[in-house]
Amino acid sequence: MSSSDTRGKTVEQQVRQLREQLQKASYAYYVLDQPVMEDEVYDRLYRQLQDLETAHPELVTPDSPTQRVGEQPASQFNSVRHNIPLYSLENAFGLEEYRAWEEKWRRLAPDVGEAIAVAELKIDGSAMALTYENGLLVQGLTRGDGTTGEDITQNVKTIRSIPLKLQTDNPPPVVEVRGEAFLPLSEFDRINQQREANREALFANPRNAAAGTLRQLDSRIVADRRLDFFAYTLIIPETTQRPDLVLPSSQWDALRLLQDFGFKVNPNRQRCQTADNVAAFYEAWSTERHNLPYLTDGVVVKLDDFALQRQLGFTQKFPRWAIALKYPAEEVPTQIRDVTVQVGRTGAVTPVAELNPVQLAGTTVSRATLHNSDRIAELDIHFGDTVVVRKAGEIIPEVVRVLADLRPDDARPFQMPTHCPECDEVLVKPDDEAVTRCINASCPAIVRGALIHWARRDAMDINGVGSKWVEQWVEQGLVSSVADLYDLTVEKLLPLERMGEQLAKKLVEAIAASKQQPWSRVLYGLGIRHVGTVNARTLAQEFPSVEALREAKIESIEAVYSIGPEIAQSVYEWLRNSANWHLVEKLKAAGVQMERGQAELSQSPLAQPFEGKTFVLTGTLPTLSRSEAKALIEEAGGKVTSSVSAKTSFLVAGTEAGSKLQKAEKLGIPKLSEEGLQKMLKAPDSNESGA
Ligand code: IVH
Repeated sequence: MSSSDTRGKTVEQQVRQLREQLQKASYAYYVLDQPVMEDEVYDRLYRQLQDLETAHPELVTPDSPTQRVGEQPASQFNSVRHNIPLYSLENAFGLEEYRAWEEKWRRLAPDVGEAIAVAELKIDGSAMALTYENGLLVQGLTRGDGTTGEDITQNVKTIRSIPLKLQTDNPPPVVEVRGEAFLPLSEFDRINQQREANREALFANPRNAAAGTLRQLDSRIVADRRLDFFAYTLIIPETTQRPDLVLPSSQWDALRLLQDFGFKVNPNRQRCQTADNVAAFYEAWSTERHNLPYLTDGVVVKLDDFALQRQLGFTQKFPRWAIALKYPAEEVPTQIRDVTVQVGRTGAVTPVAELNPVQLAGTTVSRATLHNSDRIAELDIHFGDTVVVRKAGEIIPEVVRVLADLRPDDARPFQMPTHCPECDEVLVKPDDEAVTRCINASCPAIVRGALIHWARRDAMDINGVGSKWVEQWVEQGLVSSVADLYDLTVEKLLPLERMGEQLAKKLVEAIAASKQQPWSRVLYGLGIRHVGTVNARTLAQEFPSVEALREAKIESIEAVYSIGPEIAQSVYEWLRNSANWHLVEKLKAAGVQMERGQAELSQSPLAQPFEGKTFVLTGTLPTLSRSEAKALIEEAGGKVTSSVSAKTSFLVAGTEAGSKLQKAEKLGIPKLSEEGLQKMLKAPDSNESGA
């Protein structure tokens, strides 16, 4: 390759330089959590590299950062046998069992005196095995049954904290790295919120979500889900060792080397000389783990010395030199008093167990989801059953199993209703879906849900219109669709209970004011499946009006960057449904913006008050959800990132803010409450120093 640009560098040199710069920046961001490059600069360099690679496909290398975006969906994964099986770990519940394990291995190695053990956090994710040949990532396998896994190499490449190339000039010919792929809690929340909006079944916990994501056939979806990875095992096959390589002889050194190779290794680890040291580590993390941005369910203790590990070897299932010291599960038994069913905005019917209240992970729990009819059948739920409930991560509690021995003799099994509890229409359950649905568009539950969604802060932002009023309005027949909101008058509202003239006026004004909301928010507010805030903004940018969107061919909707076939299909069908189009026309007649306005066309400085500012969100905010706060900031031109650095402009902190708050305080980054954020959104220059 000898073509050169105006600065005299060959294209090849430029490509190499760009790749190196991007790789360094990405490592600093994803592995070290210490960003060194502005996102905008990264994006610009990335596009330059992409352009050069498009023009010179022969220069694309497997370790190029552009290779992380995912590929066309695969039809299936290939099963591959692991060269060395992935063993699982023996569990110890509590320190007594840990000491018993120590006695056991010492009986097998009676001559060993003091033995260092490495205590690591047990990450609650999904184990993977990665193979590097001559420093390049060539294969990623799931654990599978421990003997055979599935080839998920394409998906693995999308995980930004996994190096595509080892950071060493002299890599061993073959290296196998094992570790845990996991979803950070914030990402888990984001995905579930998105799934809820898309009417898809929610992931029960981050572990299932990580495992499910790794086995996604469409690696573009995986790329979008921001999995992360902690490496904890390094295997350099003996047959490929070279005399010039100094190989680690202990777990502690291996972790260090993994880190040098460019992997993210969990920093919360300790060399322990005695069982008391292990106990102290285990105790300290039993509470501290709740401040981590990912889930841990215990501590893994490994004898440090590889020679001792070899001496002890493996049982059928476990290494004798390691043990998982688990934290007690956050599960408690209680009794089901009743089972109710809820109908959501999308018509999805969710069975909910009404429970005798119990304390669980620090809160009182009196209801738990039973998910869907498949789950009900699996659990075999009867009225009056004693069940075990669990709270995993930050999701609503769920029923994990029934203690059938405690079932009263005359207990009746619960069956999903055949008719909607709200409108009495027949419920529908497609064979290939777990969800049972009410498909009556005028079902009061669906209408209520649609109205509440329409009024949401990140949709039409109608102050005061929440579930309390919406319930009354629907019940009294004042509104039966979002368009009816615009027909409400003070006179119509006044007869309602606890309504005064002032309040009625305020509500009517707030509803009228929402007519000014931009087309992108309207599009989101319509509640079309798969159209969340981000997709709505993308579509509104691309299609200047509802007519343009309706006239668009499905191919042109799909051709929009980041809009996949499922989204396109859903939008296309929604707009072709006559009832939906009727609603659109009514809204338009009411004066709701169904086209791009001036403000959206010429992103005026006023519309982008947060331009160039970076925000980090932490803790629970009093009224806004994470995604709502994020949408508000992004709409004002700001960026939301997940980790605090010197480049962070503001930290928005709610209750139970953890390590991010500490880090921000250390770096002197201004703090905002939700109220402060709201104020800034209204008058961006009035509150630069925090609230
Ligand atoms: S070592 C032979 N270290 O826990 C050694 N495993 O219950 C096996 N896990 O399958 C694994 N964090 O998926 C190890 N720091 C850690 C771990 C860890 C999480 C998982 C791993 C394993 C399971 C066993």
